[in-house]
Amino acid sequence: MNQGLDGIHSTSVGESFTLIGKARRKLSSIKHKIMVLSGKGGVGKTFLSTMLSLELARRSYRVGLFDADIHGSSTSVMLGLQQLRLYADDEGIRPVEGPLGLKVVSMNFMIESLDTPIIWRGPLKSRAIMELFSMINWGDLDYLVIDMPPGTGDEAITIAQVVGDIDGAIVITAPGLMNEAIVSRAIKFTKSSGIPLLGIVENMSYYKCPHTGAIHYPLGRSTGEHLAKKYSSRLLAKIPIDPNIEDALAGGKQFILEYPDSEASKAIAELAATIVSLVEKPTNV
Ligand SMILES: Nc1ncnc2c1ncn2[C@@H]1O[C@H](COP(=O)(O)OP(=O)(O)O)[C@@H](O)[C@H]1O
Ligand SMILES: [Mg+2]
Repeated sequence: MNQGLDGIHSTSVGESFTLIGKARRKLSSIKHKIMVLSGKGGVGKTFLSTMLSLELARRSYRVGLFDADIHGSSTSVMLGLQQLRLYADDEGIRPVEGPLGLKVVSMNFMIESLDTPIIWRGPLKSRAIMELFSMINWGDLDYLVIDMPPGTGDEAITIAQVVGDIDGAIVITAPGLMNEAIVSRAIKFTKSSGIPLLGIVENMSYYKCPHTGAIHYPLGRSTGEHLAKKYSSRLLAKIPIDPNIEDALAGGKQFILEYPDSEASKAIAELAATIVSLVEKPTNV
């Protein structure tokens, strides 16, 4: 944003309409928009948004990734792009180009350094999101994946409003009783916002010992099946815990490209195929 983050102020109703109108025009060159959310932080939204985007790009789709997590923005780190900055000119903002041609926009590309805190209250966050969407030149894309912050607050409501025709949401859960209650809120949010629920992904489902093949459940009871049943949805995937995810991150590598034969990468590949079939045949949603 050429005015810098300090220039953000809250929005009047009239300004909101104008920004939303501009944003919708910018987004009209994108075929499918998918929101990745959860009630919770730390369940793997960013990991899965990033890997799903990469997997779609690997399948030759033109893909964009929008990181809506203003405070905990981390897609740039997951993609090893933290040194890059967004470029803005009279035409608007050009997304950063990531691996496999992935187009990425994240708040991290606008701040001085990764430990710079962004201290905004709700109206400013909404304004920043609206402004960003009204300025980004995505170009023609097959998919835009939106990585949401935890919870169902200002960012989620604003994005639902600004983007408008979201094809569907993927709700991420993890095992454990606490997760079930909190993730339910995200599911209810999709229903109340009129966003089709594509399904639920259970991340960190289990750990398979590479030596013995024994399966362990360190986070406890599965939540994915129960949530899917309770909300008449589907469990799209169960992704295991894989220590190589952190290793790939630490080495600035992308997990699915680095470990394509792992169970987690295979589950992500199947997830991408399922998402494509659901989104391109919307009667199933
Ligand atoms: N299946 C997994 N196995 C091991 N580590 C994982 C897995 N999924 C995510 N992680 C790690 O857990 C941490 C939190 O994930 P992240 O995607 O940032 O969560 P969120 O976006 O929901 O807050 C990250 O360090 C990520 O690399
Ligand atoms: Mg995140």
